[in-house]
Amino acid sequence: MHILQFLPAGEHAQKHETGSHNSIVKKKTVVIQGLGFVGAAMALVVASNPNDLYDVIGVDLPSNAGVIDKLNAGEFPVRSSDPKVSECFEVARRRNNFRATSDQGVYARADVVVVDINLDVHKGVRDEHLDTSYSVTLDPFRDAIRSIAAVCKQDVLVLVESTVPPGTCKKLVKPVFEEEFRKRNLPCEFMIGHSYERVMPGPGYIDSIRNFYRVYSGIDEKSADAVEAFLKTIISTDEYPLTRLGNTTASEMAKVLENSFRAMNIAFIQEWTEFAETADVNLFEIIDAIRMRPTHRNIMKPGLGVGGYCLTKDPLLASWSSQHLFGAKRLPQSERAVEINDQMPGHTLGLILQHFREGIADKNILILGISYLPNVGDTRSTPVDPLFAALRDRQVRLALHDPYVPFWEEYQLETCSDEETQTGDYDAVILGTAHKTYFDDSLLHKILNANKPMALFDPHGSVSDPIRAGFPQHSYIVTGRGDV
Ligand SMILES: NC(=O)c1ccc[n+]([C@@H]2O[C@H](COP(=O)([O-])OP(=O)(O)OC[C@H]3O[C@@H](n4cnc5c(N)ncnc54)[C@H](O)[C@@H]3O)[C@@H](O)[C@H]2O)c1
Repeated sequence: MHILQFLPAGEHAQKHETGSHNSIVKKKTVVIQGLGFVGAAMALVVASNPNDLYDVIGVDLPSNAGVIDKLNAGEFPVRSSDPKVSECFEVARRRNNFRATSDQGVYARADVVVVDINLDVHKGVRDEHLDTSYSVTLDPFRDAIRSIAAVCKQDVLVLVESTVPPGTCKKLVKPVFEEEFRKRNLPCEFMIGHSYERVMPGPGYIDSIRNFYRVYSGIDEKSADAVEAFLKTIISTDEYPLTRLGNTTASEMAKVLENSFRAMNIAFIQEWTEFAETADVNLFEIIDAIRMRPTHRNIMKPGLGVGGYCLTKDPLLASWSSQHLFGAKRLPQSERAVEINDQMPGHTLGLILQHFREGIADKNILILGISYLPNVGDTRSTPVDPLFAALRDRQVRLALHDPYVPFWEEYQLETCSDEETQTGDYDAVILGTAHKTYFDDSLLHKILNANKPMALFDPHGSVSDPIRAGFPQHSYIVTGRGDV
């Protein structure tokens, strides 16, 4: 039995002495399971580690052949404004140490397998055992883990980075490995750890993996040590120290608690948004006043809604785990947070329908911004989606603009050019995403200038008072601002 020896970042030891000969140490093989938003970037970070320690193989499903082909052709499959993506690719190309495949047989060669696959929550599906409006099935995740355990080396390190219901490593991953190893007559020398990603889209995509804090754990001391040693070779842990938690359930819980905390803070402000609108006050001004108090600096502001892959599901994974994996109570506040956040775009829709009381069909509406976050082109679970769908169902004539999203994959729609936003013919403009460029490049000014009197819906409160004052011919409907 041995713990894998990984070199901490900064140490160089590609050569070592064997007898009288100098020999090159064979690089460890790291296989990344899942080449989506997280796994594709993680694969590049591992391949471009400072000391050239690893050969990296990315595995995805045969149904995702397009992504595999792109990666093998040196094309990153996720739209990204981060220049470090191409820098990492260039390092991997020079080293010739990264390739992608759908061949699950490559797990047999892995010293480390990093699990970056999705584990989805299905909303709107009533759980057969519980009175919830969502369901979780672990079967695809279990199958994916089994595909590793069925062929891997006996002392492999499996590092689960996927967001999973707390308890998954202990109650699912480890038993599957034990079962498969029994079938293979192997001693259970495998190591299993958990460390969650805090990866973010945008210009800091790679750094959100390489230069960021990490929490980790293992199913036992040996596994936790191996995870720590591995992470030290790819993350700048001197600047961003690692935090070890006592067991895998704890670090799995840390991930979903972290995201539930944020989801709940956003949901919390929604009822105050509505209160402020009714009470004719400016909630943004109130929040700025409260934020002066150091303990309250992260109180959230109103918005259109919550998007991305994590906040929209992770609180539900937590509640599901409490009920299904631990036979305990659901987490009603966390579940409710997701429900409230999912309904947030409906609030803006309500304001729009109220404005067009006489009927909205055939109105010309421009949506500025599709991405779920400002200044990035990421449309996963964007709150603009339900708003767009609801308006489209009402026969609104819609134009879409997003400088970061030239093509909206989910709807197979091209977005319009800057020039096309200035036709002057809109009955309303909705600021779907408060991209900085709308204000810096004064595209919004140009639209306000060119357009006939219209309504501007601003769910994020991002149009300043001076801009509004400069264009008094338009009506402004700002979420959370009963005073406007
Ligand atoms: N997206 C984020 O911002 C983010 C941040 C932190 C953590 N996470 C978590 O990381 C995990 C991955 O997220 P993502 O955004 O990359 O998801 P994703 O859907 O973009 O990618 C998952 C990939 O895994 C592949 N896959 C599924 N089953 C597989 C299998 N058996 N073998 C090989 N490949 C398989 C899918 O085809 C897909 O390409 C999730 O658990 C997510 O919650 C995501």
